[in-house]
Amino acid sequence: MLSLTRKLAEVAVSPASAATLFAGVPEAPKDPILGITEKFLADSSPMKMNLGVGAYRDDNGQPVVLDCVREAERRIAGKAFMEYLPIGGLRDFISESVQLAYGEGHPVIADKQVAAVQALSGTGACRVFAEFQKRYMPGTKVYIPAPTWSNHFNIWRDAGVEFAKYRYYQPASRGLDFEGLLEDVAAAPRGSVFLLHACAHNPTGVDPTPAQWRAISAAMKERGHFPYFDMAYQGFASGDCDRDAASIRTFLADGHRLALGQSYAKNMGLYGQRVGCLSIVADSARDAAAVESQLRAVARPMYSSPPLHGALLVTKVLQDKELKAQWYKETGSQLTWNHVTDQIGMFAYSGMSGEMVDALAAQHHIYMTRDGRISMAGVNSRNVDRLAQAIHAVTSGRL
Ligand SMILES: Cc1ncc(COP(=O)(O)O)c(C=O)c1O
Repeated sequence: MLSLTRKLAEVAVSPASAATLFAGVPEAPKDPILGITEKFLADSSPMKMNLGVGAYRDDNGQPVVLDCVREAERRIAGKAFMEYLPIGGLRDFISESVQLAYGEGHPVIADKQVAAVQALSGTGACRVFAEFQKRYMPGTKVYIPAPTWSNHFNIWRDAGVEFAKYRYYQPASRGLDFEGLLEDVAAAPRGSVFLLHACAHNPTGVDPTPAQWRAISAAMKERGHFPYFDMAYQGFASGDCDRDAASIRTFLADGHRLALGQSYAKNMGLYGQRVGCLSIVADSARDAAAVESQLRAVARPMYSSPPLHGALLVTKVLQDKELKAQWYKETGSQLTWNHVTDQIGMFAYSGMSGEMVDALAAQHHIYMTRDGRISMAGVNSRNVDRLAQAIHAVTSGRL
């Protein structure tokens, strides 16, 4: 007995033999996306490029801050930033977000069928929904496209929801595996949750066509599946916020009940502000109110309430006609320009009017025939950026 006590005492004072408290904790694997940024930062070469993380940068590698956001920041200066928001977030922000996604005055909004809370960007929206799924859609799996944004797996895994993959990308055609997708939708147990990227699928950049969306919606309706739309790029797929939300609106028109996670990280350049919204469309106002109360119940012990500053910025931009128009303009061209590369020969028949061509000459020192024909032979790697910006400036919202 005595020798045992002595032995224990020796172990306690001997640093060499003492196992540290966390010795059994293994190093976590690096995040496949953010781990690249760590390597990039550690590289001292002046030639380095970070093509890993999805964040828009200017020519100096700095985050792009939109002018509409700068102006919104100026207008909200001096507001009471230090106050807590309610658990569910900023009411006006939620209302603007829901309208941006579903469409102003959509019947599901008018009929109060939408339960919604502010979320910690797109990731937080997914996480709160996954927790809600675990509690109130018991036994359901989430079906995730193959491939997808890598964090989707972690999010649903941590919520304790089982996941499976459905076929999405077909390497041979570098396009959508439409048949495979429909087969997997048909084979999944009734009432499964399907995670869909509303637009600008990450990482493939392959989206279903409008006709394919209609077929996917019909196939999911038949099986009673529940769609969760992840929309991290509204406005950045086509340059048009309504067109980018068309997939969601197709599902609504088909009578689906669904959930949606929105992020303002990319489309407003608010990465670090963590601004997003989670909404769930229910059958009735009663159900929506109950669901919303449960979303708040999920959020409260997780993070108590969401941050205020970014939500105020988004609200300012979306509520103000002038700033919203400016945001649309800054988000990108509303036009498709694939005809420039699709057309053959030396010229691109741009579709610009004589007045636009005149404006290019008068304001941007760029000259071409008044039928809008561009001689591609005059475009080179040094002038292509300025040309694109000038064309955008004279055509925005006018073709
Ligand atoms: C498909 C998808 N969902 C969600 C996110 C989440 O982004 P955040 O949490 O910064 O809004 C991203 C970001 O890359 C994404 O690509």
